[in-house]
Amino acid sequence: MTNQRPWWLRTLLSGRRQALTTTGWLPSRWATGIAGADLRILFLGDVLGRTGRDTVCERLPGLRRDLRIELAVVNAENASHGFGLAPDMAKALFAAGADVITLGNHAWDRKEIIPFIAENPRLIRPLNYPPGTPGAGSVLVTLQDGRKALVLQAMGRLFMDPMDCPFRGTAEVLSKYRLGHSVQAIVADIHAEASSEKMAYAHTFDGQVSFVVGTHTHCPSADAQVLPGGTGFQSDAGMCGDYDSVIGMVKDGAAMRFWRKMPGEKLGPAEGPATVCGVFVETDDATGHARRIEPVRVGGRLSQAMPAV
Ligand SMILES: [Fe+2]
Ligand SMILES: [Fe+2]
Repeated sequence: MTNQRPWWLRTLLSGRRQALTTTGWLPSRWATGIAGADLRILFLGDVLGRTGRDTVCERLPGLRRDLRIELAVVNAENASHGFGLAPDMAKALFAAGADVITLGNHAWDRKEIIPFIAENPRLIRPLNYPPGTPGAGSVLVTLQDGRKALVLQAMGRLFMDPMDCPFRGTAEVLSKYRLGHSVQAIVADIHAEASSEKMAYAHTFDGQVSFVVGTHTHCPSADAQVLPGGTGFQSDAGMCGDYDSVIGMVKDGAAMRFWRKMPGEKLGPAEGPATVCGVFVETDDATGHARRIEPVRVGGRLSQAMPAV
């Protein structure tokens, strides 16, 4: 029966419509609203220092190609020597294929990013900073084929700086969008220390976003799952950095701080080979929910993980 369908319909149903739309064969409006169509998203965790930046810039184009990624989000709050993000680093990550960059509690460590964020809406910071903070906590992205995705970031409050409520702030942003209708996907980055807070956040918004992924702890968690309401979840994406370290910083100085309880050397980023860590998520356009969420770990010291597509 399938073979009796015309070629263009077979192509449409076989998931190759992205290629058709980008080459101009198919009007972009046909690309949206097709039940069963999917969207492939890559989210990479905290990029740490030069080794993290260089490795992500080197690996991201290949990951986009091999996993047929249509939306790539990268957390880069530690890109500059472990503390903050400079404008030239943000430009390099965008050029390498990041569609959206998120930040975190190190958002303002490099002051030059403050005027930059005001002019670059695809660089976002946590939405629950006080009103009047530069930049925005969410961005609506239009993909090449016309589909829309919302990316937002909220910051936790347990063992973190005092902030406005991440739950209330997220609910307020989500009230403006309908997953599977006005947007095909919603990505939520919860930048937090406590896995309990991240899990509570994910369950609170289960069904309302495509996936929730945690950032900030710099250790990839082994709890990737699709929650009962259809939201993908992993409590931490892990960092893109050298894991022969203490969360990305040179291990000797960092360990001494715990061991001797005395001020030691200034902390600096470990510069060995980096592991690129994150999650791969495939969503269903009809609902916006996750069909699957799987860890990505490439290069460096960690065990390797690459989803099959
Ligand atoms: Fe971080
Ligand atoms: Fe952080």
